[in-house]
Amino acid sequence: MGHDRPADSSEVAALWNARYGSRDQPWNGAVNARLVSELDGLAPHDKASAALDAGCGEGCDSLWLAEQGWQVFGVDLSSVAIDRARDAAHERGLGARVRLEQRDLSTTPPPEAEFDLVTAHYLHVLPDHRDAIYGGLARAVRLGGTLLLVLHDASNIDAGVAHPPPFTMLTRDELAAVAHGFRELSCEQKPRAVLGRDGSPATAYDLVLRAVR
Ligand SMILES: C[S@@+](CC[C@H](N)C(=O)[O-])C[C@H]1O[C@@H](n2cnc3c(N)ncnc32)[C@H](O)[C@@H]1O
Repeated sequence: MGHDRPADSSEVAALWNARYGSRDQPWNGAVNARLVSELDGLAPHDKASAALDAGCGEGCDSLWLAEQGWQVFGVDLSSVAIDRARDAAHERGLGARVRLEQRDLSTTPPPEAEFDLVTAHYLHVLPDHRDAIYGGLARAVRLGGTLLLVLHDASNIDAGVAHPPPFTMLTRDELAAVAHGFRELSCEQKPRAVLGRDGSPATAYDLVLRAVR
């Protein structure tokens, strides 16, 4: 990914469409390990329990959540990613449990107080969109529901285990502030095994916010 910052949502969409379109499958098709570890013990209450996967990309997390029994709404700005996610949901017979929509969360927030779980992994956004997007995700959590936001920690850039993205990197305090008024709030750097730029084993850090409304 280059270092030039896109000017607006259409340029962000073009960047992600190009990235997803550049290979058959840019991601490895597997659920984010962080989602699995963070949800340990958090199961859907019943068949109607609703989860929002914001910036769902090709839908790997959305499909995994559906397989765990959640009714999932996956949204992403990239039409290429959403088309792939829809194909994968169909192939895996999950069409009835996963609704996928191309949507710009900076202009079209999710419905308020609708979800038992709102999750976003590595959804880094333009600085001007930060409050609208992360605020909208917090408001989408139903009373008693869980907000789980996972971002790349800014330290990964200095450590050489992540390329500087052309989007906002949040500090721990800035991320914690997204869940202002929530309870059981934790916001921590957590290590993750990755390959460094030279291909050798390295450690990257996720910034992980988990809170209950
Ligand atoms: C690093 S990818 C992560 C995808 C997926 N969550 C994962 O972990 O594999 C970030 C995603 O956020 C999406 N995105 C960026 N800005 C967005 C916006 N304003 N509204 C909705 N999705 C957005 C991008 O299209 C991209 O698919």
